[in-house]
Amino acid sequence: MKEEIISALNEQIRFEFDSAFLYLSFSVDLRQYGLRGAGHWMRLQYHEECAHALKIADYLESMGAGVIIPQVKRHSYSWKKPLDLFEMSLSHEHKVSSAINDLMSMVHEYQDYASQEMLFYFVREQIEEERSLVDIIARLNLCGDSGEALLHVDADLLKRPVED
Ligand code: FEO
Repeated sequence: MKEEIISALNEQIRFEFDSAFLYLSFSVDLRQYGLRGAGHWMRLQYHEECAHALKIADYLESMGAGVIIPQVKRHSYSWKKPLDLFEMSLSHEHKVSSAINDLMSMVHEYQDYASQEMLFYFVREQIEEERSLVDIIARLNLCGDSGEALLHVDADLLKRPVED
């Protein structure tokens, strides 16, 4: 594999773990706020992002390339309502999608079709993640100031299956 690609994939591992810990932080915030469903949804997102990081790490290992596990960075942000956290999540996922697109361009340029095949999974995954967040944000917007409506959405988010 080209060194540039190994380095870029390691950078993506860092990005995925960074995403994981952002969502873990959101999960803690939401649970403390009293929204167990939204907290559960974010906790599963944390697990999913760790799985993304490890998928790339396993791929690099299988190709005989070095893997760098990054340090955890503390996220600082401010929020007033649950909607803010989901909007921040969507904006974060837009950045991840852009990083995946850049990676796709790079592996295409180097004709690294093995990496391209591995990255197709992430292209599909990003479409799904953005769609889920857009849907949740729309529903939270519909809640307005109604605590009852918010609890209804929260009960739905609690149903997100663990294997999702
Ligand atoms: Fe693994 Fe949400 O990007």
